[in-house]
Amino acid sequence: MITLDDVSKRFPNGTFALRDVDLAIEAADFVFLVGSSGAGKSTLIRLLIREELPSSGRVVVDGEDVARLARGRVPKLRRKIGVVFQDFKLLPTKTVAENVAFALIVTGHSGPNVREETDRVLSLVGLSQRRDHFPDQLSGGEQQRTALARALVNRPRILIADEPTGNLDPVTSWEIIKLLTRVNELGTTMVMATHNAEIVNALRRRVVHLDHGRIVRDEREGQYAA
Ligand SMILES: Nc1ncnc2c1ncn2[C@@H]1O[C@H](COP(=O)(O)OP(=O)(O)O)[C@@H](O)[C@H]1O
Ligand SMILES: [Mg+2]
Repeated sequence: MITLDDVSKRFPNGTFALRDVDLAIEAADFVFLVGSSGAGKSTLIRLLIREELPSSGRVVVDGEDVARLARGRVPKLRRKIGVVFQDFKLLPTKTVAENVAFALIVTGHSGPNVREETDRVLSLVGLSQRRDHFPDQLSGGEQQRTALARALVNRPRILIADEPTGNLDPVTSWEIIKLLTRVNELGTTMVMATHNAEIVNALRRRVVHLDHGRIVRDEREGQYAA
């Protein structure tokens, strides 16, 4: 589903965020990206969603070389990938339901289908009762569940989460993780950057450890630390 082939990323200021990264992620896999701040986790994620281009090497997502994608095909790539971030990135002037529906509308959907699909994912994340609330009326966990519903509404094949529990307390973090594992069990490929050792050690999934832009460990049923 995802292949990085000898990928390096050098920023214009000279920083190498990734160096010679080779990585293959099968469909329906669940991968934790771990490593200290500055190790390159977010950069790797930004390459997958084409927010950055590799300086060298190839990034292939679902059979398509991301860097060679014609402009017009980028939205199609983005629909294949749902993304959630540490800081939720919700639109503050839109309700929960509107935030989710917006992800459908910008990808060209309209009509009664928008309401149906929005309700489907709000129910999935347990937020049907909050559909008309605004983000600032929600707890952190509810905001992240809204972001997750928005990420899932286009039925992406891949779900990427960059430190999704970074702003949440432990109990709320586990609620989010349970939802993510459920989504993964339904067949969605999951890539999650995290500093949460407890969660990584409890789930025992694949762990890819980055250090100064290089993969230094890649283990099945891995732990947070070597
Ligand atoms: N746009 C940028 N310009 C210059 N350097 C950057 C940029 N984005 C990230 N970096 C640098 O790249 C390295 C990796 O950053 P990042 O991928 O954000 O790491 P992580 O998510 O693991 O904390 C860091 O040294 C960071 O300062
Ligand atoms: Mg980061």
